[in-house]
Amino acid sequence: MKCLVVGGAGYIGSHMVKHLVRAGHQVLVADTAAARPGIPWVGLDIADAPTLDALFAEYRFDAVFHFASFIQVGESVADPAKYYQNNVAATLTLLQAMVRAGIQTLIFSSTAAVYGDPQRVPIDEDHPKSPINPYGRSKWMVEQILQDFDRAYGLNSVCLRYFNAAGADPEGLLGERHEPETHLIPLILQAAAGRREAVTVFGRDYPTPDGTCIRDYVHVTDLVSAHALAVDYLMAGGASTACNLGNGQGFSVQQVIDTARQVTGREISISEAPRRAGDPPRLVADASKAKALLGWQAQFASLEQIVSHAWNWERQYPWH
Ligand code: UFG
Repeated sequence: MKCLVVGGAGYIGSHMVKHLVRAGHQVLVADTAAARPGIPWVGLDIADAPTLDALFAEYRFDAVFHFASFIQVGESVADPAKYYQNNVAATLTLLQAMVRAGIQTLIFSSTAAVYGDPQRVPIDEDHPKSPINPYGRSKWMVEQILQDFDRAYGLNSVCLRYFNAAGADPEGLLGERHEPETHLIPLILQAAAGRREAVTVFGRDYPTPDGTCIRDYVHVTDLVSAHALAVDYLMAGGASTACNLGNGQGFSVQQVIDTARQVTGREISISEAPRRAGDPPRLVADASKAKALLGWQAQFASLEQIVSHAWNWERQYPWH
């Protein structure tokens, strides 16, 4: 297959690129940041329709993977325009260019944030969609646009609703790095490595057994394998759909810190802070649809493995 990976220089996108290249596909990364050395890359903002048209005229892509979006909930509340512009408007430009070029297959990175505060846990795909911040709304808007684009233009898509993406390439070639970093596991491991003084626990007064928030952490390599299965599913004539990706098991912030202490053998200092706005107490996926429909099976479902791969990366590339 000829694949375009939009956002292929980022955390999850770069793991996808590695998988596709290893599987023998032809891959081009479109990103505003440079891809890994040796990977064909075009510096491209997907809001740029003429450049997209030229790219699609030059290469006949079989499938597009779309990872490029802003992902910080707090920032989306403070600056919603940035999120609607990049995550919705620029994506619409990409979709229109795909339709013009006759590219009919898209795998879209969506999120558990489309559900908002869960009414029931584990969360299945039919759970009401009521996102509570502009980030979640931007992803749900794109999902609805995709439903309309399928009906009107025959653009087939699978929206993959990630729960908490975590971990790193088991071979140690890739890992997670955001600037600024806001995600729990990298922050814990930076504290373990002595790169920050402590990790802050946001709230101990949640209605959970130890009072800290519970999340469903899913290994980045498992996310990537779901994308590969999703594209096979569409290529085999599967209908457009959306699937949750998670392990169906929740871990509290305190449990993640305890696991990181075990895995790293380091003391990890904790500082306490009040709840972070917009954090639901418990998010756990019912991912049975991805298993039944796509044949997805997580390979690295244990939290120890997820943290240990992330720790390998943290130690190997401390300058990142
Ligand atoms: N947390 C802390 N301290 C920190 C960072 C996080 O206690 O320094 C807690 C949070 O309160 C939350 C849990 O750790 O309970 C996980 O937080 P993350 O920021 O790692 O992840 P979120 O669950 O907030 O976010 C995830 C994705 C986001 C996405 C969001 C909504 O990582 O990209 O789900 O789908 F926006």
